[in-house]
Amino acid sequence: MKKLILLLLSLASILVIGQEAKPEYVGSKKCKICHSKAEVGAQYSKWANGPHAGSLETLKTDASKAIAKKMGIKVAPEKAPECLVCHVTGWGSASGYQLEVDPLNKKAVKKNAALEAVGCESCHGAGSLYKSKKKMIAIADGTVKGETLGLTNINEKTCTTCHNSDSPTYKPFDYAVRVKEVAHPAPEK
Ligand code: HEC
Ligand code: HEC
Ligand code: HEC
Ligand code: HEC
Repeated sequence: MKKLILLLLSLASILVIGQEAKPEYVGSKKCKICHSKAEVGAQYSKWANGPHAGSLETLKTDASKAIAKKMGIKVAPEKAPECLVCHVTGWGSASGYQLEVDPLNKKAVKKNAALEAVGCESCHGAGSLYKSKKKMIAIADGTVKGETLGLTNINEKTCTTCHNSDSPTYKPFDYAVRVKEVAHPAPEK
């Protein structure tokens, strides 16, 4: 019996560790806590005033309705997977943006609201494993590789998952030019 319990316990811990090893989306508000101050580069306000923060709102405009109608989409664009895939954070992932959230689950409602745009994690990767201060500093120091905790090495491909000809309003995408338009570097030390 004791052996069986031990076996079950070790199986349970494998399951728990297995789950922990998978990064989940947490929403841009979580990044805001540490990435707001001018001393660190005010990444949050730069993003909030940049082209991505209103990407779900864009789907509610008349222009979007016209595009969706032309494509034969029967639901409102802000409810259409065909549009959401590039206009919110983590569409299609269990921890990403959801159309339906239990209204009584305040935590889930809050998180979903923080995923209502192309957010930090659309480019940097789901943040649950790297967002602690300790991990962030270890990554910045180079003691831990960001990729092992879900932090993406951003390159052109990061952007062209959305900036491609599947976008009904596609404009040719020149990475070197466009990346400057969304830059939010830390100030020189
Ligand atoms: C608890 C505070 C905290 C939170 C929350 C946090 N960060 Fe950080 N982050 C830091 C610190 C501290 C650094 C290191 C800054 C330095 O020393 O240059 C950092 C560094 C980074 C870096 C640069 C890493 C490198 O390679 O040098 C990126 C990118 C980043 N954070 C993105 C994010 C994103 C995206 C989120 C939200 C999912 C987030 N952070 C949440 C504190 C935080
Ligand atoms: C998850 C999808 C997604 C990713 C990833 C993404 N974008 Fe975007 N981007 C969008 C959407 C959607 C818009 C349009 C938002 C709107 O008009 O509301 C946009 C708009 C822009 C704009 C302003 C409009 C334009 O085309 O000139 C720039 C600049 C831009 N993105 C740069 C980038 C860069 C650089 C990267 C990669 C580092 C990137 N984006 C990654 C979805 C994405
Ligand atoms: C459109 C894609 C995109 C979005 C959205 C985005 N970033 Fe970035 N971020 C980049 C790129 C590109 C770089 C520069 C290359 C790199 O460091 O990987 C960068 C760099 C950073 C750095 C390192 C700055 C430095 O100079 O060391 C931090 C910190 C950061 N981002 C935080 C955030 C936070 C917080 C958000 C959301 C509020 C966010 N980013 C949203 C693309 C993005
Ligand atoms: C493959 C990713 C992708 C899909 C799918 C997508 N979009 Fe977008 N959307 C973008 C990007 C990237 C931009 C930024 C401009 C560009 O390059 O198209 C954008 C910009 C827009 C804009 C602003 C146009 C402008 O000129 O600034 C509207 C409106 C829009 N999208 C509506 C929609 C609607 C409606 C759907 C669904 C029928 C949709 N999008 C599906 C990626 C996408």
